[in-house]
Amino acid sequence: MFGRIAPRYDLLNHLLSMNIDRFWRARTVSRVAQILQRPGAQVLDVCCGTGDLMLALESPARPARVFGSDFCHPMLVAALRKTQERHFRSELFEADALRLPIADASFDLVTTAFGFRNLTNYHAGLLELRRILKPGGTLAILEFSTPPNPLLAQAYSFYSRAILPAIGGMISGSRDAYTYLPESVRKFPDADGLADQMRDAGFANVRFERMTVGIVALHLGDALHLGDAFDLGDRA
Ligand SMILES: C[S@@+](CC[C@H](N)C(=O)[O-])C[C@H]1O[C@@H](n2cnc3c(N)ncnc32)[C@H](O)[C@@H]1O
Repeated sequence: MFGRIAPRYDLLNHLLSMNIDRFWRARTVSRVAQILQRPGAQVLDVCCGTGDLMLALESPARPARVFGSDFCHPMLVAALRKTQERHFRSELFEADALRLPIADASFDLVTTAFGFRNLTNYHAGLLELRRILKPGGTLAILEFSTPPNPLLAQAYSFYSRAILPAIGGMISGSRDAYTYLPESVRKFPDADGLADQMRDAGFANVRFERMTVGIVALHLGDALHLGDAFDLGDRA
């Protein structure tokens, strides 16, 4: 499904969000800017798709080394093309976010934008992202969410069920991908629920902020230090 929409993915993202997606990613970068400024900081953008967040994380002014991963080859091809066109240094690799070919405690920051919702098992995904974070490292999840105001939630539901699949289907040629999107958002936990799941998976200092009346939320959490009281379940 992601492979089919990859060629028109950026166009549709900007069109369907009326370009607000650029603001969501820029806000995410601003919230983790301190980590990006640290000399030697290692950063991974998981489910990077065509690389928009990964490229926003990289800047000549920041010393952080940025990587991007995704399991969809056509998305990575698009991300590589953009990286090369901009003469950026971000490095890409192909991998399933649930089983990353990365040693424990490798990254200072792991980000994911509009990818986490697609994982087949959120708890397993959180444990895997926590595993590759250094103790004290930060996870940032930018995802669709449910507006807390019921009227706005209804209006957004109408837009995402009626308008979004029609436009997305017409331009991408894959209506099912844009029908899947609102369905996956509906099944995804609300902002408080995702924060609880992050705590359950071993993240401390979990905080979130809603953006654009709550259709999107940015969650941040810090991987607990080894030795902190936490039951790692089958990873212990
Ligand atoms: C909606 S796109 C988001 C892309 C990008 N992060 C952005 O902000 O535009 C979701 C991406 O998640 C990837 N994805 C979904 N499940 C995945 C998994 N289990 N492992 C790796 N990538 C995954 C898809 O291939 C797709 O590129």
